Amino acid sequence: ILVTSLLLLTACGSQKTEDTSLSDIQDKGTITFATNPEFAPFEFKTLVDGKDTIVGADVEIAKAIAKEIGVDVKFSSMSFNNVLSSLQSGKADVAISGISATEERKKTYDFSETYYESINVIIVRKSELSKYTSTDSFSGLSVGTQKGTIQEEVAKDQLSGANVVSLTQNGEMINELKNSQLDAVVLEKPIAEGYVAKNDDLVIADITLESGDSDAYAIAIPKGSTALKAEIDKVITKLKESGEIDKFVQEAQELSATASN
Ligand code: ARG
Repeated sequence: ILVTSLLLLTACGSQKTEDTSLSDIQDKGTITFATNPEFAPFEFKTLVDGKDTIVGADVEIAKAIAKEIGVDVKFSSMSFNNVLSSLQSGKADVAISGISATEERKKTYDFSETYYESINVIIVRKSELSKYTSTDSFSGLSVGTQKGTIQEEVAKDQLSGANVVSLTQNGEMINELKNSQLDAVVLEKPIAEGYVAKNDDLVIADITLESGDSDAYAIAIPKGSTALKAEIDKVITKLKESGEIDKFVQEAQELSATASN
């Protein structure tokens, strides 16, 4: 009786947890990536053959994954604070958006292997650069961060006394910094460098922020999607080893420097 019930239990168990994460996507013939394309060089919009197109290093990674799985790639564009939850509502299959694989997020989502290490920096107005000598210099000042990002916590934890303002759009945040509605903006380095290169009046302050162990970027996957995660990890490992990810980032940086937006 014991053996029979154990066998039955195993049978039921394996049926319930059957992982169709990969076959579902193969059946559909498309993999949809949720993203917030306001984050050059990882994802941003530019005109390609006269058409507004999402491009960037993350886009190249997504394309490589779709190719490996043998399906078409699609992007679903949204604000960053909706990117992760779109996996739960089924609006997207996976999310790629320069997402830091934090312990907190890992409670709700699975993550691929990480593919990019990033550090946080502070952008300020060039004319006021000398005012900022330490993380304490921001006390009483308005510091912008993108809504739903780890930079909200970074700014609150490390810039003591600052008034942290969360905005949905990075472009708007930069405009508010330029017109003095904000005094500083916290962004990850490659993104900040892109904005500074395009805005003569802005610079990166010479102040070091601490980054956590889990700030590196990874693709977010619905929990329990083992087969899908294995395919994604295979591609990421390959792209990392061949140095292609660095190449994607560099090429996207060049493209963004010449792009209109
Ligand atoms: N790495 C940060 C985070 O995961 C910021 C990501 C913002 N990405 C974007 N495409 N806007 O919270």
